[in-house]
Amino acid sequence: MTVRIIGVPTDYGQDRRGVDMGPSAIRYGGLAEALASAGAEVVDDGDLAVPRAEERDPDSRQPSEGNAKFLRETEEVTTALAGRVADAVGAGETPLVLGGDHSVAIGSLKGSARDAEIGAVWFDAHGDYNTPTTSPSGNVHGMPLAAALGYDDWDGVEWANAPGLREENVAYVGLRALDDTERAAIRDSEMTAYTMSDIDERGITDVVEAALSVASAGVDGIHVSLDMDWLDPGIAPGVGTPVRGGVTYREAHHAMELVAAADAVRSMEVVEVNPVLDESNETAALATELVASAFGKRIL
Ligand code: ARG
Ligand code: MN
Ligand code: MN
Ligand code: MN
Repeated sequence: MTVRIIGVPTDYGQDRRGVDMGPSAIRYGGLAEALASAGAEVVDDGDLAVPRAEERDPDSRQPSEGNAKFLRETEEVTTALAGRVADAVGAGETPLVLGGDHSVAIGSLKGSARDAEIGAVWFDAHGDYNTPTTSPSGNVHGMPLAAALGYDDWDGVEWANAPGLREENVAYVGLRALDDTERAAIRDSEMTAYTMSDIDERGITDVVEAALSVASAGVDGIHVSLDMDWLDPGIAPGVGTPVRGGVTYREAHHAMELVAAADAVRSMEVVEVNPVLDESNETAALATELVASAFGKRIL
């Protein structure tokens, strides 16, 4: 397998600086070695050019009058990313997108779904199912799944929609922090949502296997979106929106081993690593280990 690394050093999608250093932190944390240990061939595309947030106007609102910051910048970056992801998939490679905040997922999903039907497994504390109208924060990292699926305000926003992704093929794993309107929207949707309570009750194996089968049913492949705040902040403190009560180190590894075993990954991203909030780059280092497991690293 050839893995093509695409760094996206953006922090437009949330309020804390430093997540734009995620791609460097993850590379420095040992990504190339980790992927080699998984037996993957690695090509590193470097980082997309992303203008610094200070040079831009956070209120560049588009397309609606809603409450979404840096929307024009997000369009620019995710449109460029979608092209890179689609090219990698077209060349028979597996793109690995390094965030950056979770708004980059709009580009990953769009690119992965170009001329294809895909599913997605969303490993996250959060639902990321807000719209420019419902979002309490205005932060686009809380909106990418709604954007890609064309939910409500995002409906028909062509640059953000990924028509090859349907709600029926989206599964969340590990939810534990939802806004009220977002919770209602997720309940009304056709998505499958496994919370931390489901993991407590059923165990990580059962939940992740179920999520993978929902995502991969009848599609060409799946996108794996790994938000590092999915993990418990005790082991992944370097994230901008930590929520306690996340998955453990062993649960996370096992989940990624199940991802590899499903043999359906078309694209993957790892997002929200913010080394400024970290002690000694431990969150980025953990991200590299999890990616290695997702791409097939085994103990024996
Ligand atoms: N629900 C909150 C919001 O919309 C938090 C979103 C956090 N998302 C993330 N990718 N970390 O602002
Ligand atoms: Mn999150
Ligand atoms: Mn509609
Ligand atoms: Mn997220």
